[in-house]
Amino acid sequence: MNNQNMKTIFSGIQPSGDLTIGNYFGAIKNWLKLKDEYNCFFCIVDLHAITVKQEPKKLREKILEVLAIYLACGIDPNKSNLFIQSHVSTHAELSWILNCYTYMGELSRMTQYKEKSLKVGESIPVGLFTYPILMASDILLYNTDLVPVGSDQKQHLELARDIAERFNSLYSETFKIPEPYIVQNSSRIMSLQNPLKKMSKSDENENSYLKIMDDENSIKRKISRSITDSMGVISYNDDQPGIKNLINILISITGETPKEVEERFEGKGYGELKKELTSLLIDELSPIQKQVNEFMKNKDYLEEVYTKGKETAYIVSNKILRKVKRKIGFI
Ligand code: TYM
Repeated sequence: MNNQNMKTIFSGIQPSGDLTIGNYFGAIKNWLKLKDEYNCFFCIVDLHAITVKQEPKKLREKILEVLAIYLACGIDPNKSNLFIQSHVSTHAELSWILNCYTYMGELSRMTQYKEKSLKVGESIPVGLFTYPILMASDILLYNTDLVPVGSDQKQHLELARDIAERFNSLYSETFKIPEPYIVQNSSRIMSLQNPLKKMSKSDENENSYLKIMDDENSIKRKISRSITDSMGVISYNDDQPGIKNLINILISITGETPKEVEERFEGKGYGELKKELTSLLIDELSPIQKQVNEFMKNKDYLEEVYTKGKETAYIVSNKILRKVKRKIGFI
């Protein structure tokens, strides 16, 4: 599953909570568009997840659930490499090495670090600070061409490119410089309660995010309570961020343009938009949920998938790691 003639994509999701439709529309749906044209490495980034506190039992369950979600969304483990980050030791190893080629100033400029460190209070784990270096290592270990992510990861990806370029200019061409793959309308799904804030699985307010695994009633409730405005016109613009967000979610399913949605809903009320969106979301998510539940009952199969994924991932990534070590002067 590593065809030399094809380009490579790498992406990952943290098993740090329940995945949201932000993860689905911003990342997984785009993986599906690319999966047949590329060598694919889709990782469950558990080493990233422990940069904030995790409960062991829950973490164990979530790691498997993320794998089950990848499979249920249609990623074929015979064509794509699905693996768990902590199973492939090259990631942590390269991460240490790249720590020595990354500057404190660069890391302190990371928006996500600034936001997350505010939330954890005074004792900020060092891992939260160096997190983008681990992400750079993930990507650079596979000669990755393209990284499909939501727009919140753009800054991290730019750092990965900077680190790679720096290493290449110090030691000659070693890493491939990866490109982001970010799809505009779905790249930043916003909170249903505060459409100026990104939808996030770590939000305290459960009504602000829709989980991939939310049941019909929760979907109905959360969409009907989502914050809109008092303008009463279904129009795609920045003065109506709530409506804009709902349209973005809708077109991530239907493939329409914002203009087509505006035209279709001309003269109609917010209730109608919410009703259609609710039913589209239920149709989109319920087959996935059924499959996830099936996969979760078959832990042996999940183990088979992640074991196979780990083997290929190790072989491919160790080639790059050995090259890195040689160039640095390790024996
Ligand atoms: P994470 O786990 O926060 O999110 C996983 C993916 O989902 C996207 N995403 C969103 N997209 C649109 N709207 C949203 N509200 C939304 N919320 C999340 C993210 O952009 C991401 O693509 N550091 C990464 C994980 C990672 C990674 C990597 C990604 C580790 N190593 C290597 C790519 C390549 C993260 O925390 O994603």
